Amino acid sequence: AVPRTAIIAGNWKMNYGPKQASSFASEIVPALDGLVRSYARIMCILCPPAISIAAVKDVVDAYVAPRLELGAQNMYFEEKGAFTGEIAPGMVRELCDNVILGHSERRMYFHETDDLVNKKALVAFKHNLRPIVCIGENLDQYESGQTEQVIQEQVKGSLANFSAEQAGQVVIAYEPVWAIGTGKAATVEGAGKVIHRIRELYGEMYGAEAAQALRIQYGGSVTPANISEFMAHPDIDGALVGGASLKPDFVEIVRKTI
Ligand code: G3P
Repeated sequence: AVPRTAIIAGNWKMNYGPKQASSFASEIVPALDGLVRSYARIMCILCPPAISIAAVKDVVDAYVAPRLELGAQNMYFEEKGAFTGEIAPGMVRELCDNVILGHSERRMYFHETDDLVNKKALVAFKHNLRPIVCIGENLDQYESGQTEQVIQEQVKGSLANFSAEQAGQVVIAYEPVWAIGTGKAATVEGAGKVIHRIRELYGEMYGAEAAQALRIQYGGSVTPANISEFMAHPDIDGALVGGASLKPDFVEIVRKTI
C-alpha cells in the first residue's frame, strides 16, 4: 500500500485579524517552507479566519512552499446570493485549496448538522476544494460510552453520497470535544482505536481502497510534546491543531511529525 502523506493543519479559529495574521505568518512561514521542502511526505495547511486568508496568502506566496496550503474554517453551500455574512465555495477557492467543515464549534454554537456538513462537503468537491470534515463525541457521550455510536452516525451522515474519486480525497479530523482546548489530549491508544474504527466504517461505505487512501487526523490539545506519539500510530495521518497553531509551537509540531 502507498503510504499516506501526513497533514498538519492549523485552525486559528477566531484569532488574528489581517495585520496580526500577516506578522505571525511572516514569523512561521520561512521555517515551514524549509520543512515542507525537505520532506515530501508532509503537507501543512494554515486556516486563518476568512478575513485574514488573503494576508496570509501574500506571505506564503513569497516562498516556494510546496505542500504548504491555505484553508478556510467554514463556508456556505450556495454559490452566491442573498446570504448575508456567508462565504461561497467559489470565493474560498480563489485563495484556498482546503476547507474545514463541521468543526465541533460550528456544530455546537451554529447548529450545524451532519446533513448540512454533507451538503457543504459535496459542494467543496465540485469546486476542487479538499474538505477536512470534523467529527467527534462530546464529554457526556464519551462518559456514557456512546462514542462509537456517535462516530458512526457522524461518518454516515456527514460523508454520504461521495463518488469513488471524492471518497479518496476527503480528510477526516477526529476531535473528541472533551479534548479541545482543555490541555487534556486523548490517549494515543484511545484516539487510535476510534480512528481505526472510522477507517473501518469508511471502508464499509466506499471500499477498501478508499479506506486505505483516507487521511484521518487527530485533533484536541496537540502540542510539540505529544505529536510524535500520535504520529507513531499507524492509523493517524496528522493533526488538526488549535491553540498551539497560534504560536511558533506550530513549527515544532510540524518538525516533530517528520
Ligand atoms: O480544530 C482544532 C481544535 O479544535 C483543537 O483545538 O486548541 O485543543 O488544539 P486545541
